[in-house]
Amino acid sequence: MTSLSFPDDFVWGAATAAYQIEGAARDDGRAPSIWDTFSRTPGRVAAGHTGDVACDHYHRYPEDVALMASLGLRAYRFSVSWPRIQPDGSGPINPRGLDFYDRLVDALLAAGIDPLVTLYHWDLPQSLEDNGGWPARDTAYRFAAYASAVYGRLGDRVRSWTTLNEPWCAAYLGYGSGVHAPGRQDAAAAFRSVHHLLLAHGLAATALRAGGAGTVAITLNPAAVLPADPASEADAHAVRMVDGLHNRVFLDPLLAGGYPPDVLAHIERFTDLSHVHEGDEKTIGAPIDVLGVNYYSPTYVAARSGAPGGGGAYPGTEDIHFLPPSGPVTGMGWQIEPSALTTLLVRLHTDYPGTPLMITENGAAFDDTGPDHDRISYLDGHLRAVHAAIAQGVDVRGYLVWSLLDNFEWHDGYAKRFGIIHVDYETQRRTLKHSALWYRDVITRASLPA
Ligand code: FCB
Repeated sequence: MTSLSFPDDFVWGAATAAYQIEGAARDDGRAPSIWDTFSRTPGRVAAGHTGDVACDHYHRYPEDVALMASLGLRAYRFSVSWPRIQPDGSGPINPRGLDFYDRLVDALLAAGIDPLVTLYHWDLPQSLEDNGGWPARDTAYRFAAYASAVYGRLGDRVRSWTTLNEPWCAAYLGYGSGVHAPGRQDAAAAFRSVHHLLLAHGLAATALRAGGAGTVAITLNPAAVLPADPASEADAHAVRMVDGLHNRVFLDPLLAGGYPPDVLAHIERFTDLSHVHEGDEKTIGAPIDVLGVNYYSPTYVAARSGAPGGGGAYPGTEDIHFLPPSGPVTGMGWQIEPSALTTLLVRLHTDYPGTPLMITENGAAFDDTGPDHDRISYLDGHLRAVHAAIAQGVDVRGYLVWSLLDNFEWHDGYAKRFGIIHVDYETQRRTLKHSALWYRDVITRASLPA
């Protein structure tokens, strides 16, 4: 039987994020982040859940690293909690916060697992939000200083550095729709956040590079935006607008020299562009080595007069209908369509040539009442979609499952389980799901059955 083989040096791994798994919210000098404030505010997170304890990974990381090793993971993507390292977001560094990541990195290296560090996965120090948050330019400079401090401690052992995770969510969900921390609903603030997140990335990328970092990356959640009717010109126009707000506003300044004029014109309906300073686009366009791609589900849109549009997450998209999911969905209600991932990867490769890609998140929540065959099928389908893109010449360097562990799924709290490892939150007991064992076998063979 033939099989679908992946390249020899393909990176197989899993991903998590600090606030979603660490717990230990008040340990060793950590101060609150916007997610602590948000989750402790009644009505913001389902069932009033918080990340106070989460998976207690802060204390249980040796066991978690041992589980990763038992699955044969080659790489582990985790994020660093800014409020552990720099409790006020500026000023003194808290060495006890860095000590934790020092121990984690050493444990990973001892187990033969490559540590992939993400510097920002949404947990902005609350003090910085109190000073204006991402809509304020100063936050970008604070981020670069924090990034340098982390690099200064871990840079001798960590090769792979990612600045931001999904700035789309941080900006549009944090400041536009308000379903994420800090929960503001202000389109102008969301657009200014987009720019300051990108600037933060550019400043940090430059500093990391100057310090000798091996691989510098950013992770986006580029949307596979598709038309309801492929033959409709009006739908194609709707696709272009949503693609502009979601994808090109990030990808063009990162990889193509500057902001797209149509998107700038759109943004000017909500705020002037005085926050975009001379030289910023050059800073943002600092070369990167890898573009991280997080993918879960496609976005279908249609032109429809009177439609409400995508709300605060897509300011100014009135008269665009965002189609509800159809066909099979995950436990999040997200449409399952692996072929859209192939389409997305080919598009990134075509429109932004020369930048290697890495799937930094892909996975699914399901109810997990029995063996998680639905998750295996989701992962299998999406790995095939990645393989299909590679076969078409797209340079995809690796695949990281979201997530290693069940964890705090943002405003859904603990109800949604994405892990390939089950976590019993009462006892903190970890149990490998069927998908974990399946993934271990895929990694061992570096291939899927044809
Ligand atoms: C992504 C986030 C990640 C996780 C998955 C399900 O948008 O980066 O933290 O919540 O979605």
